[in-house]
Amino acid sequence: MWASLGLLLMSALCVEKLIAQRCPQICTCDGIKQRVSCLNKNLTEVPVSIPQITQKLDLRHNEIKTIPAGTFLPIPYLTHLNLQKCQVEHVDEGAFRGLGRLVYLNLASNNIAFLYQEALDGLSSLQQLILENNRIEEIKPGAFGQLGFLSFLNLARNSLVYLPDMVFQGLQLVKWINLSHNMLHVIAHEAFGGLPTLRRLSLDHNELQFLPTEALSRLSGTIKLEIGHNPITYIGEEAIEMASLKQLFLDNMALQDVSYRAFIRSPLLHTIDFHNNQLFVLQPLREMAHLKKINLTGNPVLCTCNMRPFKEWAEKARIDMDVACAGPPAFKGQQLESLTARHMKCRGRGYEEELLASLSTLTRELEEDAPKCPEGCACSPDFHHANCESRGLQSIPKGFLSNTHLLDLRRNEFHSIPKGSFPGLKNLTSLHLQNCKIATLQPGAFQNLKNLVYLYLSNNSITSIDADVFEGTSQLAYLYLDHNGFTQIPKGAFSLLPNLFSLHLQHNSISQLSDKDLEGMEKLRWLYLTGNHITHVSLRALCDTKMLEKLHLDENFLQEVPTRSLKELPNIIELKLSKNPIKHIGDGAFFPVSRSLQHLYLDNMGLEQVSSGAFTGLGPKIKSLYLEKNKMHHLPTLHNFTALEVINLSDIPFYCDCKLLPLRKWLDKLNLRVGATCASPADVHGQKVKLITSFQTCPAWGTKKAKRTSSPKAKAGKRSNKKQWSETVQVKRSKKSKA
Ligand SMILES: *[C@@H]1O[C@H](CO)[C@@H](O)[C@H](O)[C@H]1NC(C)=O
Ligand SMILES: *[C@@H]1O[C@H](CO)[C@@H](O)[C@H](O)[C@H]1NC(C)=O
Ligand SMILES: *[C@@H]1O[C@H](CO)[C@@H](O)[C@H](O)[C@H]1NC(C)=O
Ligand SMILES: *[C@@H]1O[C@H](CO)[C@@H](O)[C@H](O)[C@H]1NC(C)=O
Ligand SMILES: *[C@@H]1O[C@H](CO)[C@@H](O)[C@H](O)[C@H]1NC(C)=O
Ligand SMILES: *[C@@H]1O[C@H](CO)[C@@H](O)[C@H](O)[C@H]1NC(C)=O
Ligand SMILES: *[C@@H]1O[C@H](CO)[C@@H](O)[C@H](O)[C@H]1NC(C)=O
Repeated sequence: MWASLGLLLMSALCVEKLIAQRCPQICTCDGIKQRVSCLNKNLTEVPVSIPQITQKLDLRHNEIKTIPAGTFLPIPYLTHLNLQKCQVEHVDEGAFRGLGRLVYLNLASNNIAFLYQEALDGLSSLQQLILENNRIEEIKPGAFGQLGFLSFLNLARNSLVYLPDMVFQGLQLVKWINLSHNMLHVIAHEAFGGLPTLRRLSLDHNELQFLPTEALSRLSGTIKLEIGHNPITYIGEEAIEMASLKQLFLDNMALQDVSYRAFIRSPLLHTIDFHNNQLFVLQPLREMAHLKKINLTGNPVLCTCNMRPFKEWAEKARIDMDVACAGPPAFKGQQLESLTARHMKCRGRGYEEELLASLSTLTRELEEDAPKCPEGCACSPDFHHANCESRGLQSIPKGFLSNTHLLDLRRNEFHSIPKGSFPGLKNLTSLHLQNCKIATLQPGAFQNLKNLVYLYLSNNSITSIDADVFEGTSQLAYLYLDHNGFTQIPKGAFSLLPNLFSLHLQHNSISQLSDKDLEGMEKLRWLYLTGNHITHVSLRALCDTKMLEKLHLDENFLQEVPTRSLKELPNIIELKLSKNPIKHIGDGAFFPVSRSLQHLYLDNMGLEQVSSGAFTGLGPKIKSLYLEKNKMHHLPTLHNFTALEVINLSDIPFYCDCKLLPLRKWLDKLNLRVGATCASPADVHGQKVKLITSFQTCPAWGTKKAKRTSSPKAKAGKRSNKKQWSETVQVKRSKKSKA
């Protein structure tokens, strides 16, 4: 026993000595706590001689621009690693390999713009990952795939604009995700798929213009949602469907209206915070049995007869409400609670009139209070909005607050946008110019809009654009040019927009896609060309947009699937060809995109024939397939489509003979509504393909069933329909002759 104690002591001493020996000169090592600190040392790489047994490593404030693969292999016992403020730009694939015991990784306040798929590999015990305050613009689904033990992910203060489907896949135990202070504008429906344990989600301080209802509905276990500080103006019926939600923060938005049925699909809601919005009135939120707290401070609430139902309901339901009246003058500043309901009057006027009257006084007051706002516009400095919609303006007003984020100028009559129309609006992210009768955009029209991300020019009369129109707006990612007068893609117009992500050109008169039309659009993900006059897509038209994920070519004049042009699209996920006059789809039509395609739209085309190899290559990737409203009588086998979530086969005149048996067999196993109906033969007209019994007469009907029931011949003999029988025989014969 003594001996072993001695051994222990000795080895402890040795270890300490070892650490002391190996401690990098520039760092301090605490051998007892197995902690090494190299704070603030201008290090350009992780020191090589850090003791192997180190558990906590503090490298804050250095200049480690790149973290190469295998950097930490010599120190595999690390549990805590802090790399804050190290000017990190690149995290190579496999950078953290070997750190299977790490529970805490802090990479905050660096310059990371992109996370490679394998950058976080090997961190199989990680519980906290802090990526706050970097420059991350996008995350690929799978980036967090190896972090099965993560419980907290902090992505706040980055530059995310879009969350794709299944982006957090793999985070099976995550409890809290912070996405505050990004520029999120679009959240895909399945973005929050696969997060069964998420309890809290922070989405505040983003650029959401609508509640992402569908995406949020996937979060059935989430209790707390922070989504304040987004430019959302109204909340409609059933807008939040979150089964476990208890606390909801909707503060500091631009809310003007909230449906009284907005939250009924979130029955456990306990607290709703509406502070700092634009609500004049709120209806009783009936049917919310657990609701106990509503905060309406900082809203211009009018305590007239219109607020009476709310007050009475809130008192009856014992809801703790914080509502200060902004009007009428007699009640200004008083708590709604302190008023007597019968004193809350509308002076004999009707509801609408009263509301309008109070509204106009208040708007005037607000406008008078506002520090700077062009005449005729309404500015809301608190949430950085300016609104000059439908004011009959003929030129762009000047003099907006320099910190305006959203400027709404739609429905005016500008005809032309001259150079430098928006001086000093360096923080503008969203500019609305739809329905403004604009025909020309002059060079430099948007100059100085350094942070512009969304530009809406829909429904104007623009027919061409020169590249220099977009001078100085290099952050532009979403460009809406739909419903204009383009007859071709404005070639080269987007060359100053390296970050263009989504281009809307639907409902123009574009007649073809030619080579180089999309030159320079390397980052383009979504291209909308619905409702043009496209008859032809040239072979190399799409070769510049390698990142393209969505291509909408529906409602055009294509007569065939542009198979060979699709070769250039390795990342395509969604392809829409609906409503093109394509009569025939040949073998291998989608083969070039079969490795990535998930959603295929082939409906409403007048399709007469689909070759047996038309879908070759497509299979387990496909989630939706739309084939409704076509004219073919048969379909090739769909056995390889094993991951379908939606398939529509309605309004197809199926000929329900034995040739259709493979489809029927497949449908029998499919647990989806498909809508496939027989059009002929006459005796089964109008019946569901899935339900008719005549297939049992086919020779290839399931072997077991065939044995149990009578032979095809006998069975068919019972039926009076001879035609069907003869077909069965024909099929049999043709099979034999092939064999
Ligand atoms: C790091 O660099 C700065 C500026 O070059 C210098 O002032 C400082 O002394 C350096 N620190 C160390 C620990 O070398
Ligand atoms: C999320 O991150 C933001 C930005 O750093 C921070 O202000 C906020 O407190 C975090 N959210 C929560 C709920 O802690
Ligand atoms: C309502 O929100 C305001 C602003 O955040 C806060 O000061 C106030 O305490 C809140 N009221 C209640 C009852 O929580
Ligand atoms: C733009 O926004 C940033 C960050 O919110 C702020 O620091 C800056 O003062 C704003 N710029 C202007 C011109 O208001
Ligand atoms: C486009 O503008 C015209 C008139 O300017 C209007 O009648 C029409 O409704 C608008 N269409 C859309 C889609 O906004
Ligand atoms: C189905 O997938 C298998 C295996 O990948 C392949 O061999 C077969 O050709 C596919 N069938 C069709 C009709 O595409
Ligand atoms: C299929 O499309 C038809 C016509 O658009 C539509 O009415 C029907 O609801 C769709 N069915 C399914 C199962 O999606």
